Amino acid sequence: MEFFDVVQSRHSIRSFVDKPVEPEKLHQLLETTNRAPSGGNLQAYEIFVVRNPERRAALARASLGQAYVASAPVALVFCADPSRSATRYGDRGGRLYAIQDATIACTYAMLAATALGMASVWIGAFSDQQVWQIIGSPEGLEPIAILSVGYAAEQREPSRRRALDSITHYLD
Ligand SMILES: Cc1cc2nc3c(=O)[nH]c(=O)nc-3n(C[C@H](O)[C@H](O)[C@H](O)COP(=O)(O)O)c2cc1C
Repeated sequence: MEFFDVVQSRHSIRSFVDKPVEPEKLHQLLETTNRAPSGGNLQAYEIFVVRNPERRAALARASLGQAYVASAPVALVFCADPSRSATRYGDRGGRLYAIQDATIACTYAMLAATALGMASVWIGAFSDQQVWQIIGSPEGLEPIAILSVGYAAEQREPSRRRALDSITHYLD
C-alpha cells in the first residue's frame, strides 16, 4: 500500500476476527519497526510479543479490562530502556529519548500493520506494574505502549482531527 493510503486508511480497530497473524507478516512488521529512528541510534526500547491467550487476557485485565487486548491475536508491548539512553545522554536520554524511541517504534509497527492488511489499536491505559509483571518483570524496562494487532472485524470511519490551522503555528 502506498504510504499516504496507509495513513488515510489506518483507524483504531477494537474488534478482531478469530484469525492468527501469519508468522511471516509478524516478522515483516517487526523488521519494519526495527527501521524506526532513535536517539543516537541506540534503540533504547524492547518489544515483547505476546500471543499466548492467557497472557493476552492478563494484559486485558491490566489494561482496565479493555477486552480487545485479549481478542486480538497479538499484543506487542513496547518498553523503554532508560538506562540504555542515559548511558550516552544522561538524564535527558533516560527521561525523554528512551520514551520517544519506544513510541516511534510503536508508531512504525502500527503503520506497518495497516500496510500489511491488518488492524491495530494503541493501548496506553494500563497498570505499568501489572503489565511489567505479565511480561516477566524485565529489569530496568518500563512499559510505554501496547499495540494490539490482528485482522479487523469492524470498519471505521476516519475520526475527527483538530483543524490544521489550530495546531500549526507559522513563525515567519
Ligand atoms: C498515547 C495513546 C494512548 C491510547 N490509549 C488507548 C487505550 O488505552 N484504549 C483505546 O481503546 N485506544 C487508545 N488509543 C487510541 C486512540 O483512542 C485513537 O488513536 C484516537 O481516538 C484516534 O482514533 P484513530 O486511531 O482511529 O485515528 C490511544 C492512542 C494513543 C496514541
